[in-house]
Amino acid sequence: MKYTTYNFNGKKILITGGAGFIGSNLALYFQREYPGAEVTILDKFRGEERFPNGNLKALGHFKNLVNFRGEVIVGDLGNRRELEEILGGRKFDFIFHQGAISDTTAQDQGEILRVNLNSFYQILEFGERWGAPVVYASSGAVYGKLPGPHRIGEEAPANVYGFSKLMMDQITLKWQGKIPVVGLRYFNVYGPNEFWKGKTASMVLQLGLQILSGKSPRLFEGSEKIKRDFIFVEDVIQANILGAVKGVTGVFNVGTGEARSFKEVEEILQTLLGTSLPVEWIPNPYTKQYQFFTQADITSTREKLDYIPRYRLEEGIAQYLPEIERIYREEVAQ
Ligand SMILES: NC(=O)c1ccc[n+]([C@@H]2O[C@H](COP(=O)([O-])OP(=O)(O)OC[C@H]3O[C@@H](n4cnc5c(N)ncnc54)[C@H](O)[C@@H]3O)[C@@H](O)[C@H]2O)c1
Repeated sequence: MKYTTYNFNGKKILITGGAGFIGSNLALYFQREYPGAEVTILDKFRGEERFPNGNLKALGHFKNLVNFRGEVIVGDLGNRRELEEILGGRKFDFIFHQGAISDTTAQDQGEILRVNLNSFYQILEFGERWGAPVVYASSGAVYGKLPGPHRIGEEAPANVYGFSKLMMDQITLKWQGKIPVVGLRYFNVYGPNEFWKGKTASMVLQLGLQILSGKSPRLFEGSEKIKRDFIFVEDVIQANILGAVKGVTGVFNVGTGEARSFKEVEEILQTLLGTSLPVEWIPNPYTKQYQFFTQADITSTREKLDYIPRYRLEEGIAQYLPEIERIYREEVAQ
């Protein structure tokens, strides 16, 4: 669906991190709704490199893009010279900057800040050079363990990933440049194309796949009280589109405004799938840097961007379920 009367057909659009979960959804959204838009994806794509926690350093996967008909370029946000070589001689009308080390449990502070924060300065330089608005992915992780509802201006990241996003947002909040810069603090996003995030994919997918395989859904102890603001990827796309065309600069929360428990996610999935498997409770190994409660205050997102979340958790999961079943059939049950 279209969220604005602005016509992106004929526009040149750069999406960093476009081989990842959210970036690929955005690229495919433009392809579907604005077939005349020229979309270019820049992504590092996955390699062999892993963090000590076992997770891959870059999660982009070609399978997210098999239906994409635009341009794909491999490039490393952590390499300033390479980005200048690839992008320096080109010009885009909009930049959607989704590329990042997205792993909230990774500990390599220098590497995360180099890729997430340093590249942001360069992305802003490109935006200024081209006169292209920059919309970028921030995160609800900036709020750390603060009690919700979470508001812009009250942050306390509990991990270096959240810190990297907060540093980007601080640049935006002081931004005096010529182009609009919009930071979108996504909360817990779920939806198609997240399978390749592996262990860092949402609990909606992970629990869905466990239930489909007939196993007990695994939840951290106390999960009826661990609540998050779960947001369907389609609403994240909406926020990106609105962020690009409103001409405002600022940082905005992107959630539903509602906190729901992991136990509720499990219950919704079991109801939709017609199962009643017993839960397996497991200890939470991440308690030090874990967010036990997130809830986005979306007042300013509604007011300044005209953003209206369209999917409550039940609706988002119901819409997503056929894709979870396809993933189970084609990628898991093989
Ligand atoms: N999924 C969520 O719940 C969520 C929540 C808050 C914020 N975010 C942010 O949204 C954005 C997209 O997240 P996602 O969930 O799609 O994660 P993702 O890991 O699937 O996507 C990130 C993409 O960035 C690419 N990338 C990583 N390092 C790179 C580098 N050095 N150079 C070029 N590309 C590189 C990856 O290959 C990947 O395709 C990220 O900035 C993430 O921090 C996501």
